[in-house]
Amino acid sequence: MKYTLAFDVYGTLIDTSGVLQVVQKHLPKDKAHTLIGLWRTTQLEYSFRRGLMEAYVDFSICTKEAFLYSCKALEISLVKEQEIEILGSYSSLPPFSDVVESLQQLSQSGYRLFAFSNGSKKALTTLLGNAQISSYFEDLVSVEDVGLFKPSPKVYAHFNRKTKSKPMNSCMVSGNPFDVIGARSYGMHTVWVQRDAQRVFDPWGIAPSQTIKSLSQLDRALLKIKQ
Ligand code: 2OP
Repeated sequence: MKYTLAFDVYGTLIDTSGVLQVVQKHLPKDKAHTLIGLWRTTQLEYSFRRGLMEAYVDFSICTKEAFLYSCKALEISLVKEQEIEILGSYSSLPPFSDVVESLQQLSQSGYRLFAFSNGSKKALTTLLGNAQISSYFEDLVSVEDVGLFKPSPKVYAHFNRKTKSKPMNSCMVSGNPFDVIGARSYGMHTVWVQRDAQRVFDPWGIAPSQTIKSLSQLDRALLKIKQ
């Protein structure tokens, strides 16, 4: 059975700093950075809270409501057109520079490649289509099918079911420590993509199978995991 790779999307394949350029059109640089940071942490917090509440909504709602909260909390007032432009930029973001070459190489090495995200199938299709990387994936798997969010073990079990793979024959590749810990705790292999050297991994005693700085190191990391 071929080894199966689950690629997280936002922050792993897709560079969300692309939103920063749009925000900086409307706000001073430091305010834009503060807004983007609070927005991302609030977006994830909303998904965690909704998962626990069993009150699932499309991840884009978490994104929008987190944006509105962050503007309010930072006393940033934008007009509707500015909000629409900034939120709209979330569906058209660039892939990181190491993505295309790495996906080509992994495909040639015989791995099965899937995108696996909190984002809805519709949002993933648009986002990865705009980033021109959809064709590298056998399929796009969304948590929407189970009505929960990462890091629920049920979403990783859904991934294995949907892709007809087994936990120990599949690997979650993610830049997000919460995602790596969730997948590892469920039973998958995991690779943490630590793109930012300053990024700290949570001290939970649940370590990634491998840590890399760039997707160009993924092929070698996977060989170590499969040994
Ligand atoms: C994902 O794409 C939110 O980055 C996380 O599922």
